[in-house]
Amino acid sequence: MREGIAHDGHVMFPMMPYTSYANLSDEDALDIIAYVRTFKPIKNDPGPTKIDFPVSMFIRAVPKPVEKSPPPEPTEPVARGLWIMANASCAECHDTIDDKHQPIPGKHLAGGQHFTFSKGVVYAPNLTSTRRRASVPTRTKN
Ligand code: HEC
Repeated sequence: MREGIAHDGHVMFPMMPYTSYANLSDEDALDIIAYVRTFKPIKNDPGPTKIDFPVSMFIRAVPKPVEKSPPPEPTEPVARGLWIMANASCAECHDTIDDKHQPIPGKHLAGGQHFTFSKGVVYAPNLTSTRRRASVPTRTKN
């Protein structure tokens, strides 16, 4: 969950945003596991993950050992908010990305990723207070 190696030893596809969870404390990670283990198990074998070469090779470089930094104290609200946002993967949706799904420098949290449903499109809005960084409409469309 924090390092990118699944329980069977395979390197996880980084769509599971484990790099964002590297800072979770041991206690946080164990609490998440305790919660997940309250779910009633079902039988479901989705089969092994199959990723084509060369992507299968590139993703092997992503996992890193956990280097925890403790969360800032509540008396430091800005630093603590930054820490929470990093661990909650807000940027995964709210960063503006290019056509290769890479974040565009200078567009951190500037919005624009969209999610298409059968009933319409939802845009992750610009979270910055800078108007000119908004790159796309920020309202739900249908
Ligand atoms: C899985 C993608 C995803 C993640 C992760 C995500 N968001 Fe969002 N967020 C969206 C989308 C999509 C909308 C727009 C929803 C709508 O228009 O109905 C949204 C809306 C918002 C809004 C409302 C902005 C407004 O116009 O009032 C805020 C604030 C926000 N997100 C903050 C966050 C924060 C903070 C985090 C991390 C803790 C986060 N989001 C994580 C996709 C995401």
